Amino acid sequence: MQSRAAVSLEESNQDSNPPPIPSIKTTIPPQSRGLPLRLLRLFLLFLSLCLAFSFISIYAIRRFGVQNVVTTVKSGFIPSCIGGGADSFATLERFVAPPSNLLHRMSDEELLWRATLVPRIRKYPFRRVPKLAFMFLSKGPLPLAPLWERFFRGHQGLYSIYLHSLPTFEAKFPPSSVFYRRQVPSKVSEWGKMSMCDAERRLLANALLDISNEWFILLSESCIPLYNFSIIYSYIRRSNHSFMGAFDDEGPYGRGRYNENMAPEVNITQWRKGSQWFELRRHLAVSIVEDTKYYPKFKEFCRPHCYVDEHYFPTMLTIEAPNDLANRSITWVDWSRGGAHPATFGRADITVEFFKRLYDSQKCKYNDREEFRICHLFARKFSPSALEPLLNISQQVLGF
Ligand SMILES: *[C@@H]1O[C@H](CO)[C@@H](O)[C@H](O)[C@H]1NC(C)=O
Ligand SMILES: *[C@@H]1O[C@H](CO)[C@@H](O)[C@H](O)[C@H]1NC(C)=O
Ligand SMILES: *[C@@H]1O[C@H](CO)[C@@H](O)[C@H](O)[C@H]1NC(C)=O
Ligand SMILES: *[C@@H]1O[C@H](CO)[C@@H](O)[C@H](O)[C@H]1NC(C)=O
Ligand SMILES: *[C@@H]1O[C@H](CO)[C@@H](O)[C@H](O)[C@H]1NC(C)=O
Repeated sequence: MQSRAAVSLEESNQDSNPPPIPSIKTTIPPQSRGLPLRLLRLFLLFLSLCLAFSFISIYAIRRFGVQNVVTTVKSGFIPSCIGGGADSFATLERFVAPPSNLLHRMSDEELLWRATLVPRIRKYPFRRVPKLAFMFLSKGPLPLAPLWERFFRGHQGLYSIYLHSLPTFEAKFPPSSVFYRRQVPSKVSEWGKMSMCDAERRLLANALLDISNEWFILLSESCIPLYNFSIIYSYIRRSNHSFMGAFDDEGPYGRGRYNENMAPEVNITQWRKGSQWFELRRHLAVSIVEDTKYYPKFKEFCRPHCYVDEHYFPTMLTIEAPNDLANRSITWVDWSRGGAHPATFGRADITVEFFKRLYDSQKCKYNDREEFRICHLFARKFSPSALEPLLNISQQVLGF
């Protein structure tokens, strides 16, 4: 299925011949003595250029769809000439095309509202290739980006990338990078606070604006993929569940963090805990973004030391859509060293044996299979020093 999707995508790119350019006629009226002739000539030339561009763009949109317009005609030209320009009204392609510039100027309130617009007719009247949205929640740079570049290579059209970082950080990826211009408008987010959940909702909302995104994966800058793209894509596509960690921890760090003021929206039996690194189906992403029922309760009553990012989404989705959840995360992490933070792996840890142990230790439920051998698709935490050895063994161990 996915290779078919990739092939048909390529096909659609092939008929992108540049549209024929209509001839441009510049006529100069004879009676122009009253006005400075040069100025008038310049003005007319500009006007006819504008007209020509708008004709080309209208023609191209009708004939070839949107993407080709973007590549053949500098799109910035159109609105400056005919104000409003090639309207998004003319074709569906233009309406469903993903935003070309992620740095919009919407407020969070406006963004979330817009992201929750959902079509009521289930069948898409166009060919929709469902994509994985990889949402990176980072402080600043992505030290493992070269590994991810390798992972994504050759799978254009099946994924989209979003990067949320500190607002002061300006990503400088070259145009050839998969991360180029994938930064979304960001705000400061702190672990354990509501601002962290706000950042995750902001990422989800930005990714929802692309109607082809079907699965939404939250990752950090210290995450790596454990399999090649094809395996990850089909594992997620074939799963009947979304991978959100959610379990009922009866101890002080689980139910102990529940506050009775959250009732009746949240009952203690519904209180869940789980790691924030999730994978969610589109309709669940929408229910998180649209939530106004649980949000105020968590914001007010899940304060330090409640760690709201470990409870809000797992609890909310357990109440709203329990049967859609696998209740486990697909991101592997090592807590075996103890302490408040999971283990971080650096240069010296990266060996073939390390990954062999990691792969061999897996066993979990996947759809109706009780003891499936692929349980985690991603792993954390890897330090920047792990990059070089990872690149050395990625082909052999990770399969890309
Ligand atoms: C991904 O890995 C699987 C199993 O190792 C392999 O069969 C498949 O050919 C790989 N796909 C790509 C595109 O490399
Ligand atoms: C919580 O829900 C359970 C079952 O859904 C119910 O039996 C129990 O009474 C509820 N507790 C409170 C405090 O509402
Ligand atoms: C996940 O947990 C919910 C209740 O918390 C349960 O209804 C659901 O069946 C569980 N999912 C799986 C795949 O076991
Ligand atoms: C998963 O979904 C497929 C197709 O909808 C269905 O045939 C299958 O029975 C489901 N499996 C489980 C365990 O729910
Ligand atoms: C990576 O591979 C190169 C060439 O095979 C080798 O020189 C280098 O030491 C390796 N680096 C690490 C960290 O394994």
